Amino acid sequence: MNRNFAMEFVRVTEAAALASARLMGRGDEKAADHAAVEAMRKMLGSIEFDGRVVIGEGERDEAPMLYIGEKVGKGGVKLDLALDPLEGTTICARGLNNALSVIAIAEEGNFLHAPDTYMQKIAVGPEAKGAIDLRATASENLKSIAHAKKCNVEDLTVAILDRPRHADLIAEVRGAGARIWLIGDGDVSAAIATCKREAGVDVLMGSGGAPEGVIAAAALRCLGGDFQGQLLFRKDEERTRARAMGISDFDRVYKIDELARGHVMFCATGVTQGTYLNGVRFFSGGAVTHSVVMRSKTGTVRVIEAEHHFDRKPVY
Ligand code: FBP
Repeated sequence: MNRNFAMEFVRVTEAAALASARLMGRGDEKAADHAAVEAMRKMLGSIEFDGRVVIGEGERDEAPMLYIGEKVGKGGVKLDLALDPLEGTTICARGLNNALSVIAIAEEGNFLHAPDTYMQKIAVGPEAKGAIDLRATASENLKSIAHAKKCNVEDLTVAILDRPRHADLIAEVRGAGARIWLIGDGDVSAAIATCKREAGVDVLMGSGGAPEGVIAAAALRCLGGDFQGQLLFRKDEERTRARAMGISDFDRVYKIDELARGHVMFCATGVTQGTYLNGVRFFSGGAVTHSVVMRSKTGTVRVIEAEHHFDRKPVY
């Protein structure tokens, strides 16, 4: 995969972040998401590649733009995309922390075609790579992560989505003695944060969106972290959809490189202020964006602060 694509795709997440950040705190999730989707799609259309959305806004009948299977780009090398123009719609609508615009790129066929179900997840940074096992209990994982990080379980901080379905998990983690960071939304951002020491989070546990799981796995492949995911089905209709997407083993625990295989690139731009990235800051006639671009092949992580001047480039 041409490394120059990384710089092309960061413009895509910048555009989506700029568009949705305009609507931060307006209480309108749909409008913020729509603005991000429209901007991302427009920018993707300007890149010379033959793109296929594998993880997108939903099935074709429910998502008019960036739906699963949609072709994007001006033509060229075939690439698959796992994207979320606005990860954390509620966060953005409420002006809270950690909304991102994200896109992951892989060669054709290298992302798991994850259905829109939940996924049981565990994510850690590089120091705890190889120390996680989704089939083990939360307490066992915490012991193993603490051992890998040469610390005590009491020193670990676990990010968990604040949901009633996580009551037992939260009780178990508390019982084990670890600290908890309850997040309202945005488990992609929390997964990435496990790879940044200053973020102060060691592991993400619990269930969240399966598409977000694939995106997080792509990011963690680049950052040297680790991730495992298991699809969770609530009804038969979800199993039927998964079967149609080529999934037959419903109990399978996917390792990180089974979710995002081969060479992967990942770009993200902060929409609201966050643990890993700053949010968009507007000034008279322009805005500053904060993005990260990474590649699994080399492990290079570029952090890009870009100043946009709308009078000279009114793209967004
Ligand atoms: P959206 O951007 O689609 O709103 O997703 C936000 C999010 O918090 C994800 O980060 C997470 O994986 C998922 O929703 C959790 O789903 P739920 O809110 O149903 O628990």
